[in-house]
Amino acid sequence: MNKQTILVTGGAGYIGSHACLELLQAGFDVVVVDNLCNSKYESLARVQQITGKTLKFYPADIRDKAALTVIFQEQAIDTVIHFAGLKAVGESCQQPLRYFENNVYGSIVLIEAMQQANVKQMVFSSSATVYGEPPSTQYVEHFPMAAVNPYGRTKAMVEDILRDVSTADQLAQAENPWKIALLRYFNPIGAHDSGLIGEDPNGIPNNLMPYVSQVAIGKLAQLSVFGDDYPTPDGTGIRDYIHVVDLVKGHIKAITALQGDLFSGGACKAYNLGAGKGYSVLEIVSAFERVTGQTINYKIAPRRAGDLAEFFADPALALKELGWQVEKSLDDMVADTWAWQTKNPQGYN
Ligand code: NAD
Ligand code: WQD
Repeated sequence: MNKQTILVTGGAGYIGSHACLELLQAGFDVVVVDNLCNSKYESLARVQQITGKTLKFYPADIRDKAALTVIFQEQAIDTVIHFAGLKAVGESCQQPLRYFENNVYGSIVLIEAMQQANVKQMVFSSSATVYGEPPSTQYVEHFPMAAVNPYGRTKAMVEDILRDVSTADQLAQAENPWKIALLRYFNPIGAHDSGLIGEDPNGIPNNLMPYVSQVAIGKLAQLSVFGDDYPTPDGTGIRDYIHVVDLVKGHIKAITALQGDLFSGGACKAYNLGAGKGYSVLEIVSAFERVTGQTINYKIAPRRAGDLAEFFADPALALKELGWQVEKSLDDMVADTWAWQTKNPQGYN
């Protein structure tokens, strides 16, 4: 297939904006649909500034079937990368219906609109959260899904829906069967090395890296390290952090794989996108101090409810079937986070 046109849902968000940038640089045409409920158009303005290329933006909600129908009529979409969704675990526990309505119902509307337009290639943003608490700390794709919070369950449900629509096409030997890659992200951090786009959380960040970076720049007084009594070498939680640019490159590899033999005849397959190696909270803090020269004021606090001691990806399947693996180091992740933070102390504001 020649130059593909990719519809990116949630393309103005943290990961979506980095994906748009890589797609444009790789020569794809890009169409974005985003309701800007957790992002600003400025991210897309900057993507176009960095690449010197333009993309088409539709300010719309994926739950709006009529709006999606217009997009598929106006644009010759080949593949959809589906990032649009709400992603805060704590908020999902307080507002579960809002999460199911946005993430699950929104995905159903999108899948219907795609089916109607006969656009049946999708790359979906899933999450390591779908695994819950498996017996091994290194997660393999064949482990059962057992999400432990509403956010994670929205991801598991959308995965199930996508597997079922794909199976239906395979059974019917459909002429244009669904081809779907479910990408299970571990902990995305970092920013594009231009320092022009990055993660711009609303209010006080929930996640470690943006919190550390806001302490370093003086916006927040002190990091709370949630627990130092886990069964890990230094007692703090271990996660598999992945540079957002490595992560979005995995999406481009997935788009290519959808065209290949593995997906001919239709398929829906899950892939872990992670480094296969974890770092502890204190290792992140000390890397941040070493790379940036800043001192991070922190205290040891009680464990955060719902946190696991340690998990990281088995990324072997993504290497074997997508030809993808991480290229960037922890130092890159820290340096790029810090460049974004110092150039944009107020985010996109
Ligand atoms: P983000 O909030 O920055 O981006 C999501 C985008 O989707 C935002 O621009 C938001 O405005 C948009 N959106 C939400 N609901 C919408 C709707 N109904 N219609 C149209 N647009 C809508 O989040 P992100 O970190 O870029 O995450 C992107 C995707 O990756 C999400 O699906 C998220 O669940 C998933 N994911 C994220 C992480 C992470 O740690 N960041 C990890 C695993 C999976
Ligand atoms: C990392 C480590 C914390 C903040 C979350 C979602 C998950 C996925 C990615 C979407 C843990 C510790 C954190 C702080 C700390 N998102 N920590 N002080 O919890 O692994 O994953 O984001 O799919 O679904 O749950 O990421 O960055 O919040 O935490 O000590 O202020 O840092 O305890 O060990 P997490 P995180």
